[in-house]
Amino acid sequence: MKIGVFDSGYGGLTILSKMRQHLPQYDYLYLGDNARTPYGTRSFEVIYDYTLQAVRYLQQQGCRLIILACNTASAKALRSIQQRDIDPDQVRVLGVIRPTVEAVPSLTRNGHIGILATPGTVSSQSYVLELEKIFSQHQASCIVHCPPSIVQQSCPMWVPLIESGEHTGIGADYFVDKYLHALLAQDPLMDTVILGCTHYPLLLPKIQQCLAAMQRSDIQLVEQGDIVARSLEDYLLRHLEIAHDLTNEGTVRYLTTEAADKFNQSASLFLSAPICAKKVIF
Ligand code: DGL
Repeated sequence: MKIGVFDSGYGGLTILSKMRQHLPQYDYLYLGDNARTPYGTRSFEVIYDYTLQAVRYLQQQGCRLIILACNTASAKALRSIQQRDIDPDQVRVLGVIRPTVEAVPSLTRNGHIGILATPGTVSSQSYVLELEKIFSQHQASCIVHCPPSIVQQSCPMWVPLIESGEHTGIGADYFVDKYLHALLAQDPLMDTVILGCTHYPLLLPKIQQCLAAMQRSDIQLVEQGDIVARSLEDYLLRHLEIAHDLTNEGTVRYLTTEAADKFNQSASLFLSAPICAKKVIF
């Protein structure tokens, strides 16, 4: 059986590539709902419906474990799906927010944290609630500053820029500058910024350039790829019954709800390797 990796579009590829670096032996099935991206500006009901459809589809395709490599889906749909819609003996569904949050207490020096995410993730308050919880748990060990200072900035234009291949152009500079200034203006003491959307690492060069221009290169940027991959590694060590069900041929297949040619062209650029995807309808 395979590990399914789901995102609204190309963003989950940033997670998949790290998972394949850490755990190359497994078989992966990537599903990008590119025809309906972005999710981040949609309602709770729609995000939940779309995510559940994707989970059911990946399960039908033989996935024993499904990673929602999408913060918006993790924030808006994961809990309901885990609690109501799946039989954990048949399939496990995991998200990306919890592992990211668990990494933060050891990264920040002063407990001032910023979150960049889609409007859906920001409005769900998932990061804020999870961070508050984790910091209060760490309080006893005196590692962290409690309560932390947490501010969020939604970036509604970043996913559309990336999905349309405009993230390296000069048009993207305006929106990177706009959202970073808005985030930092909320808390000048911020020392750590979570890139809370799996698409955002594709904007990393521009984000770093903008922080340098603001003389804030000291800010630590939290990317999710390695964090999620390490957390999956750990999960499989703790759940040997699931690891045992996974096949070990080291393959990867790509599915998209958009035209396969369009996906192949963009995804190949993101992964710097040729890709041959299949279009699916679910
Ligand atoms: N990569 C998704 C995330 O991590 C983007 C969601 C969207 O389509 O807006 O949130």
